[in-house]
Amino acid sequence: MNKQDNMENMIFSGCDTVELAKKYGTPLYVVSEDIIRERCMKIKDVFLNKYPNTMAAYASKAFLTMAMCKIIENEGLNLDVVSGGELYTAIKAGFPMGRIIFHGNNKSWDELLLAVEHNVGRIIVDNLYELEMLEEITSRQNKDINILFRVAPGIGGNTHDYISTGQKDSKFGIPLDPSVIKDIVNRTINSNNIRLLGFHFHLGSQLFENQIYVNAIEIITKLMNYLKEELDFKTLELNVGGGFGIGYTDKDTPKPIEYFTDIIMETVKLQCDKYKMPIPTIIIEPGRWIIAEAGITLYTIGVIKEIPGIRTYASIDGGLPDNPRPALYQAEYDAVVANKINQKADKVVTIAGKCCETGDILIWDLKTPDLEPGDILAVLNTGAYNFSMASNYNRLPRPAVVLVSNGSSEIIVERQTYDDLLRGEKIPSYLRG
Ligand SMILES: Cc1ncc(COP(=O)(O)O)c(C=O)c1O
Repeated sequence: MNKQDNMENMIFSGCDTVELAKKYGTPLYVVSEDIIRERCMKIKDVFLNKYPNTMAAYASKAFLTMAMCKIIENEGLNLDVVSGGELYTAIKAGFPMGRIIFHGNNKSWDELLLAVEHNVGRIIVDNLYELEMLEEITSRQNKDINILFRVAPGIGGNTHDYISTGQKDSKFGIPLDPSVIKDIVNRTINSNNIRLLGFHFHLGSQLFENQIYVNAIEIITKLMNYLKEELDFKTLELNVGGGFGIGYTDKDTPKPIEYFTDIIMETVKLQCDKYKMPIPTIIIEPGRWIIAEAGITLYTIGVIKEIPGIRTYASIDGGLPDNPRPALYQAEYDAVVANKINQKADKVVTIAGKCCETGDILIWDLKTPDLEPGDILAVLNTGAYNFSMASNYNRLPRPAVVLVSNGSSEIIVERQTYDDLLRGEKIPSYLRG
């Protein structure tokens, strides 16, 4: 997004954000189709078209709606899902099932069954228990399925503990013990319905350094070579996950995506040459990198409370339920006052949410112009892990999502109503009357 310097209101994807707030109400998630498509195009330019035998899957946990499925389908990317609900969304949107990659550390029987029934392209098997279930399901359904094993390479990402996933002490993936992996690979080689294509790892999210991918690829290719020598197993696919960081504030140091993808491809080639193995198909799974900067959230400023000599709080009409990331892992955001985009930001205020939690602070010490109730705050880069992580805490209805493109706007998720909050609730008969 750009802070404009020649207009009164902030413009996002050709739309006046103050007009959007008026038309659709606040809080409001605004998602730019133009930016999503630019990001997909960039992935095609610097990765898919540059290197043969590559695939990119959008990690839909970052943000998923049926409209998003359509955009991703249209851009030719694959879709990574991690639950029956995400898979169901893709099914209902008509997303091609062969392009689905199904993740999860504790997939249920029903979720696996849904995936097998719909012939998803790949299941990333996380553990032996899951493999056994999948063997049973595919045999009962008389269906074949492609799988990759998720391996925990034993290295964590330099990021918040809650979003570091590749370390040994992790709930995700099979720990990197070659003899354990050899047994499980051997089992699939002899399986009737399961076809093992290769391996997957995901190191963490919001990563800024590429060295960790180099380290992980060195570890995994060593394992691939071991399996080749021990079992004559040929790894056809290697999925290196997502995690490419973006700039939320000027403290972050984001890199272009090719900073990651070039070194990934270079390292794979070096390692495969070293072990005299053919280069497998390489898959990446960016989530945040595609969607984070495509989203902003609009709020209306309400109460402004000045505590002389201490701080000024400006409260917004949303907060923790629509963006839990600051409370969850101290994530930081930047914001602008959308209706005062050209005014000098020479005041310092703390943006508080409206929940009954002292920790419901969206942004500490934000520089703003003079604020008044009714001003529209635009929190930037909220496209990833906001809408998808939202809750109804304090019984706040979830905001609408509006898709904007080249000056036009359309609702893709309606704002929840109070009746939506009550949906499915029942009062037991003995409590009625
Ligand atoms: C398996 C897997 N792939 C991809 C991603 C996407 O990560 P990011 O949004 O940081 O790119 C995640 C995020 O947790 C993940 O668990």
